[in-house]
Amino acid sequence: MIFVDSSKIEEIIKYKKMGILRGVTTNPTIMLKDGVTGGIKGIKKRSIDIAELASPYPVSVEVMTNDKKGMIEQAKEFSSWADNINIKITIHGPNGELDNLEVIKELENDHNIRVNTTAMMSAQQCLLAALAGSTYVSLFGGRVNNMGYNCCAEIKKLREILDRFEMKSKIIVGSTREVLNIIEWLEAGADIVTATPNLIESMIVHPYSKETVQMFLRDAEHIRSFLSK
Ligand code: E4P
Repeated sequence: MIFVDSSKIEEIIKYKKMGILRGVTTNPTIMLKDGVTGGIKGIKKRSIDIAELASPYPVSVEVMTNDKKGMIEQAKEFSSWADNINIKITIHGPNGELDNLEVIKELENDHNIRVNTTAMMSAQQCLLAALAGSTYVSLFGGRVNNMGYNCCAEIKKLREILDRFEMKSKIIVGSTREVLNIIEWLEAGADIVTATPNLIESMIVHPYSKETVQMFLRDAEHIRSFLSK
């Protein structure tokens, strides 16, 4: 499955019209880049607009704090905006603080909130998030590759372990950098690759397809002009 890694309304409308939209992922960096302003109010408006367009498919919205109480409060608030919103929580805090797994477990178990555990770089991090009950576990493939490791190996290991222990978490691989990542990571065992709009577009257009379509249209024109003679 392919999700769109963007908070741009026009991109989401475009893929919905094409019939290929299956989910959306966002984070504070994406929202800032896509022009979201106005604090939580601005995030609320954009998230609700996206969720409405993407419904019934899932939309990930990330909490804007790493304070334990604050994460739970924001998760409750953000998930109340629409039924299809799930909440992104990072695997740990900015300095490796360990509260987050507890938050993930509490949100899933006690508040019935679907969590997408995010900013993970290894199968072992994803395994722990899955054990804590996270609905989605997000591995940042492009960042893993940029550190000099091949993230396909992490995806394969994770796939095998989740299947062996019959764990239900869905593997999302994000941080796409090249068109090839999408098929490659799905093939390695990801349930979902969340891709930036520019890469999805490049998946569609192929120079040789262009040439072929041009040939068809040229020949169709010849037939048309023959008929009219
Ligand atoms: C995934 O859910 C994230 O939003 C995203 O793919 C992160 O990618 P980056 O490495 O480009 O920040």
